[in-house]
Amino acid sequence: LLLCTIPPALASLQPLFALPGPPLPGSWFENLAVRPNGAILATRGDAPEIWQIDPSTRTGSRLVSVEGAFNLTGISQVDTSARQGKDETYVFASAYIPAPFQVGPGSAKVWTLTFTSTGPSVSLLKALPEAGFLNGLTAWDTGRVLIGDTLAESVYLIDVETGVHTTPLVNMSGVNGVRVAKAEPGVVYWANHNDLTLRRVKTDGNAVPTGAVEVLAGNLTGIDDFALQVGKSGKVEKAYIAGLTGNDVVEVVLGTGAKRVVGSDLTGTGAGLVTAVVLGRRKEDEKVLYASAGQGG
Ligand SMILES: *[C@@H]1O[C@H](CO)[C@@H](O)[C@H](O)[C@H]1NC(C)=O
Ligand SMILES: *[C@@H]1O[C@H](CO)[C@@H](O)[C@H](O)[C@H]1NC(C)=O
Ligand SMILES: *[C@@H]1O[C@H](CO)[C@@H](O)[C@H](O)[C@H]1NC(C)=O
Repeated sequence: LLLCTIPPALASLQPLFALPGPPLPGSWFENLAVRPNGAILATRGDAPEIWQIDPSTRTGSRLVSVEGAFNLTGISQVDTSARQGKDETYVFASAYIPAPFQVGPGSAKVWTLTFTSTGPSVSLLKALPEAGFLNGLTAWDTGRVLIGDTLAESVYLIDVETGVHTTPLVNMSGVNGVRVAKAEPGVVYWANHNDLTLRRVKTDGNAVPTGAVEVLAGNLTGIDDFALQVGKSGKVEKAYIAGLTGNDVVEVVLGTGAKRVVGSDLTGTGAGLVTAVVLGRRKEDEKVLYASAGQGG
């Protein structure tokens, strides 16, 4: 299991961090979130743990272990300043995944991770037993996040204070990664891992579609979570896609749909799964991609 930085202009990879101890073939990070201070939060798919990695020192450690969860999936920071104060808060999801591609029915849960003055604290926001497999997760607006449900082929909009949710997006075949860029409020981007496309749709303030779905890129070799890069135009110009079984990171230019592999063989073993890509959030690393890769099953 590796974490790499990829200068997008170069196809050069730098391993950043691997879980300590002998490499376990079944270990994987499922999703990543970058903190304002530059640290990376990584959810483990093979354990109920969030790891924190400091890219400047290339060191990491387990930040929290989540009691009552088995396998962690999507994670994203959410702005809760309007209601609960200014603490740095993340929302993440969990499921029971006894074996690859199997999800325990009724096991979906949504959690918050808050950095308070006394340290990180995790609490259950809501169990969603009616959900299937909670996967990609992204901030929507103040106090709300979108969560993709791969099995139900839906996306939920959940209120982080009350846990109340709606299901604004349905018929989302193969929904995996879900992203919204702050620069383009209301536009929902998602990965469809069934037909290997990256798509987007314009929506209203409650994420209900107001237009037709656009296919931004297709014929990818694999697709999981992805990062959106906002260009000089102030719009999303590029997407960086975790290529899953492709073991690579693919850049897609929106508008033309042009694709380019910017990092191949991330595991360095010729096989593996790349699950997530995020971009740095600070001036010094806004052009750095962080990607998670595992050997996979
Ligand atoms: C899910 O997590 C459990 C531990 O909580 C682990 O035994 C299992 O292997 C994980 N599933 C996958 C597919 O990694
Ligand atoms: C979703 O798909 C079903 C079955 O094809 C269809 O009846 C329904 O109208 C669709 N709903 C939306 C909102 O597209
Ligand atoms: C995928 O490739 C086929 C064959 O070249 C082409 O017809 C199709 O338009 C492509 N799909 C997308 C979404 O790019």
